[in-house]
Amino acid sequence: MAPATNGRVIFAKVPKDFPVPGETTVYDTTQTIDIDGVPLSGGFLVKTLVLSVDPYFRGKMRTPEKKSYFPPFTLGEPIESHGVGVVLRTDNAEVAVGKYVYGMIPHQEYSIFPNMQRLNFIEKNPKLPWTVFVGAAGMPGQTSYYGWKELSQAKKGETAFITAGAGPVGSMVIQLAKRDGLKVIASAGSDEKVELMKQIGADVAFNYKTTNTREVLEREGPIDMQIHPKGCRYWDNVGGEILEAALDNANTYGRFIECGMISGYNTGPKGIKNLNQIIQKSVTMTGLLVFRFHDKYEKEFYEVVPAALASGGAEKGSNTGKAVVIVAED
Ligand SMILES: NC(=O)c1ccc[n+]([C@@H]2O[C@H](COP(=O)([O-])OP(=O)(O)OC[C@H]3O[C@@H](n4cnc5c(N)ncnc54)[C@H](OP(=O)(O)O)[C@@H]3O)[C@@H](O)[C@H]2O)c1
Repeated sequence: MAPATNGRVIFAKVPKDFPVPGETTVYDTTQTIDIDGVPLSGGFLVKTLVLSVDPYFRGKMRTPEKKSYFPPFTLGEPIESHGVGVVLRTDNAEVAVGKYVYGMIPHQEYSIFPNMQRLNFIEKNPKLPWTVFVGAAGMPGQTSYYGWKELSQAKKGETAFITAGAGPVGSMVIQLAKRDGLKVIASAGSDEKVELMKQIGADVAFNYKTTNTREVLEREGPIDMQIHPKGCRYWDNVGGEILEAALDNANTYGRFIECGMISGYNTGPKGIKNLNQIIQKSVTMTGLLVFRFHDKYEKEFYEVVPAALASGGAEKGSNTGKAVVIVAED
């Protein structure tokens, strides 16, 4: 067969603030691949099916001198993210043709992997499209599931505030909090997203761009400075001014789960001026990183979540909020 184009998305330039498609990342079609004949040297050839697009990309679009807990993308090379692919050819007896793999996959149509080090095998669920396995049944869903289980200590009757509530992380947290019997206040940046958050169970959903977050929290949240029998939880996906508003409106012994601070990813972080609220209210604030809890919860996650999604029980359409690239049909 004639060589096929191996389309890929290259990290071309470090952004100044927001990434600019076509400039900071470039779609490149100059490479070809001989799918039937390319040497595998003990590895295996994977056809990419779906690729996740995530807020953490921005943190990887940097130069190597800037230190972080995760490595940067390499300039001139394809970006990479969580994705699903299918094995087309193999030189490795433990990786059979037709198997599906999930893990860090370069943003290109075909890749040769030397081994399974950065991948896991994944089972197809006939009721779920592969896009779900990079959203609610993938890394974002794991973030919500692990973080809520490990850090929320939620009790029935408490109040939870969840930002970026229509995305894959926030929408799963809304449903986990409702399952545990909490009152849920959730925010997002459009009226369409507000509707989605209501549909999946939020008691109070609002558009933070057109509604004042402080006013909503003062009206709906536990603002009691006394020790309150009904605690509060804040699932923070955004940081910045909304984190300040949540601190001012926290209850005594409130628990803050710090999952993301997207308000500062592109334009730089802003200082939080009222950290003294942590002292005054004995607030607990814990940073969450999904991969730190894989050993504890990954097996349980794959036993529980895909089946719940397939039954339509736990996750009514939360994957609609996930940015995914469908690279090829299975
Ligand atoms: N700690 C971990 O291990 C881990 C893992 C995965 C994700 N995360 C974090 O979790 C958060 C949500 O991730 P996701 O994948 O579910 O993302 P997402 O919801 O698909 O996308 C992020 C959303 O954040 C909102 N946003 C952007 N700028 C904002 C601002 N200045 N103020 C308020 N909201 C803003 C936007 O929605 P609006 O329309 O609502 O503005 C955007 O759609 C991110 O902060 C991400 O970095 C953390």
